[in-house]
Amino acid sequence: MNENDPGSRIALALDVPDLDTAERLISQTREHIGVFKVGLELYTSVGPAAVEAVHAAGARCFLDLKLHDIPATMGRSVARAAAMGVAYLTVHGMAGAESLRCAERDAGGTKLLAVTVLTSLDERALDEIGLEGGPAGAAERLAKLAWDAGVRGFVTSAHECVSLRRALGPDAFLVTPGIRPAGADIGDQRRVMTPADAIDAGADMLVVGRPIRDASDPTTAASDIASQVAAALAR
Ligand code: C5P
Repeated sequence: MNENDPGSRIALALDVPDLDTAERLISQTREHIGVFKVGLELYTSVGPAAVEAVHAAGARCFLDLKLHDIPATMGRSVARAAAMGVAYLTVHGMAGAESLRCAERDAGGTKLLAVTVLTSLDERALDEIGLEGGPAGAAERLAKLAWDAGVRGFVTSAHECVSLRRALGPDAFLVTPGIRPAGADIGDQRRVMTPADAIDAGADMLVVGRPIRDASDPTTAASDIASQVAAALAR
């Protein structure tokens, strides 16, 4: 990855139900975007064909399956994703230390990204599950657990980037969803940041979905966000 290439710092979420729509979005934006995120919706619908579509466009695939299972199954599933050549794969910190260690052991050239606490879970939801200390405390605990298991990538709110970077140091690879260009509709995201602010906060890669997917002109929307990232990187 060339860290100064803005496209390699942006992952476009292919949150669409079928391959035709995904391929259209890839071709409309590929010039400005280097990474495409295949999530549960598209993977459940079309499986590895989604990964192949990303690779066929000469881009990197971020497979967002948020794996959470017993150690043996984690290891074997991560190995299959690595064999497909995906660049990034998400795993749940809550799967526990041994599952994370097995995942990391079998990840090959795939960079694992640990998800700590889903941003949809507030303090009350965490209490119901039986997790104490609120979202920030639980996220910090799970990030530390994943780090100790060898995982170096993390999905985090841009608002937590600075504190996570301070806790984990320069080797942590921080990926931030909840990105909205200034003035954009925030949808169901609660804690958003502009692309430039997220880069300034130390994010290594930004996940952007609806601001590009739902734009009347996805090419221009992707180009605008890439320009904002380029400007922030040049500062
Ligand atoms: O459309 P939007 O830009 O909000 O897309 C965000 C993407 O990032 C979606 O694919 C969503 O699943 C993902 N995501 C998120 N918040 C997290 C983790 C992942 O929004 N904490």
